Amino acid sequence: MKSGGIRNVQKSTPTPVLEVENLEVTYFTRLGPVKAVRDVSFEIWPGDAMGLVGESGCGKSTLAFAIMNHVARNAAVTGGRILFRGDDMVQKSGRQLDRIRGNQIAMVYQDPMAALNPRRTVGEAIARPLQLFGTVPGTEIQNVVVRLLEAVRLGEGYLDRLPRQLSGGEKQRVALARAFAGRPTLALCDEPLSSLDVSVQAAVINPLLEFQQRFETTMLFISHDLSVVYQFCDSVAVMYLGRICEVGSTEALFAPPYHPYTEALLSAVPVPDPSVERTDIRLAGAVPSALDPPSGCRFHTRCPRKLGPVCERESPPWRQVTKEHRICCHIDTEALRAVKPVFERKEP
Ligand SMILES: Nc1ncnc2c1ncn2[C@@H]1O[C@H](COP(=O)(O)OP(=O)(O)O)[C@@H](O)[C@H]1O
Ligand code: SF4
Ligand SMILES: [Mg+2]
Repeated sequence: MKSGGIRNVQKSTPTPVLEVENLEVTYFTRLGPVKAVRDVSFEIWPGDAMGLVGESGCGKSTLAFAIMNHVARNAAVTGGRILFRGDDMVQKSGRQLDRIRGNQIAMVYQDPMAALNPRRTVGEAIARPLQLFGTVPGTEIQNVVVRLLEAVRLGEGYLDRLPRQLSGGEKQRVALARAFAGRPTLALCDEPLSSLDVSVQAAVINPLLEFQQRFETTMLFISHDLSVVYQFCDSVAVMYLGRICEVGSTEALFAPPYHPYTEALLSAVPVPDPSVERTDIRLAGAVPSALDPPSGCRFHTRCPRKLGPVCERESPPWRQVTKEHRICCHIDTEALRAVKPVFERKEP
């Protein structure tokens, strides 16, 4: 709910829906352990949407699966805590966890088929969480399913269709209706638009936003599209090679002071308004391997603002810009604040 309401909510409700503290997730591979998520901390307040952005391979999905307590077979949470409404998810197991996962925390995947069984009709798929968790009386289920289908602009005519009879956008809308059927407290959306054509993205994003606002769902919205994040996220965390390098309210993140990596990501956002001038920053080289990350600041091999050997030798400190905005960099806040904004309106 992009309402600028972060502070209001904080005052009235002392517990964030999600708190991630110093999280570390490791994949155990033949080449050795890969710490795909390192020392990650953030929180999301009730009803807020937090965007999580960063290049492919930086650990976004690994983080989402860790929050679901559903990491890959060769992975484990090797440090830190994940608190859902104050309860430690890492400590939970078995039935308790299944119930939370299916009911209170829902996941929307990049590939909608990850949530849909090819042999179940659309009606059966959406009814299933309602039957499993008994959130709606049995006699009401059909009505609720139809209402959910209408909310994703599909309607009753889709009840008996199988996933293979749907387009990519329609499948994602069914997956969305299924994820929100149980009115989850927290929705983890892992690049839900990136497998879709731009022309159908709005047909998915609009119902997603409506669900989030109607049910006051707290959301982690993973994306590499900063313009979508800008439209509706209250806050944003920027991730590079397994670590968060900046976190703050959306407004704060889109203006200096920026982390040099955020600045580079912003400079790649297309701006349709011809009166706005955008700085062009091209990052050199590829993202280094998570198996052998650079020493000091992980971004030093590509950073256009690198200070010198200190960036190679020492982990950068967190700089608290405001209560909600922090940047992890050796450059001090005043110098970062003096940077030219990425987006500037041209003089008429
Ligand atoms: N099952 C796996 N085994 C080993 N490494 C993995 C596995 N899944 C992901 N990784 C590695 O973990 C890192 C983070 O991946 P991922 O979380 O999928 O990134 P993102 O979602 O940001 O694209 C990458 O380096 C990726 O290669
Ligand atoms: S610590 Fe150094 S290398 Fe890292 S982002 Fe800041 S200036 Fe760039
Ligand atoms: Mg991913």
